[in-house]
Amino acid sequence: MSVAKKEYKRITVKSLVDMKKRGEKISMLTAYDYSMAKIMDGAGIDVILVGDSASNVMAGYETTLPMTLDHMIYHATSVVNAISRSLVVVDLPFGSYQSDPKEALRSSIRIMKESGAHAIKLEGGKEIKESIKRILHAGIPVMGHLGLTPQSIYKFGTYTVRAKDEEEAEKLKSDAKLLERLGCFAVVLEKVPAKLAKEVAKSVSIPIIGIGAGNGCDGQVLVVHDMLGMTKEFHPRFLRRYLDLYTEMTGAFQRYAEDVKSGDFPSEDEQY
Ligand code: KIV
Repeated sequence: MSVAKKEYKRITVKSLVDMKKRGEKISMLTAYDYSMAKIMDGAGIDVILVGDSASNVMAGYETTLPMTLDHMIYHATSVVNAISRSLVVVDLPFGSYQSDPKEALRSSIRIMKESGAHAIKLEGGKEIKESIKRILHAGIPVMGHLGLTPQSIYKFGTYTVRAKDEEEAEKLKSDAKLLERLGCFAVVLEKVPAKLAKEVAKSVSIPIIGIGAGNGCDGQVLVVHDMLGMTKEFHPRFLRRYLDLYTEMTGAFQRYAEDVKSGDFPSEDEQY
């Protein structure tokens, strides 16, 4: 029996650290379903994050808090089914890891076992140190998330830039170092001043992936619906839109409706 030669090299957590070492930036996007993930994987995106932002862009909730472990596993399984090369990281949803390290490990094991994902991500620093240790001891790679952590939105009160004052900036720097020491393979840094993010990226050997954190990070992540221009009302300064899908899709849906109503669709060639 012959084994087909693979033409791609899978991205691993080690590849990401090696990319940082040689100064190669890391591309990361969110995905929540098979079709989108398949296109991304084929396009060469290094990391696909099954983010709990699914709560906003897939389910229409205002915050990420309503997501459950079952929701995340459903989305993660659909993404993993599409993947040949990219590393798949899955968010631990709100309420699945904050109460104690055992619960954090149980939730991580469910994600890894039931979806086939490659790593988990969770929000916070020192406060969740014991949970991170537990998960890592079980052999599950962990990505951290500092700065604006949307699961704590009701504590912050707003989605504005974090760590602008000295005290919060110092805590962020020490949390990033702690996550590195514990053994996290990368950290997402969300909505913090570019100067601070660059300093943090220089101070640790693991990749810092920014979203609204400037060009000094080792990689960038965006929510796919935002970068494709599907979320019309969301336009923060950090967002670059690569398409205007909202307009494109609206036009396509309108043309389809017109064609159906006028009887133009289906044509002779489009029927049996
Ligand atoms: O859930 C998500 O999409 C995220 C990104 C914003 C990093 O955590």
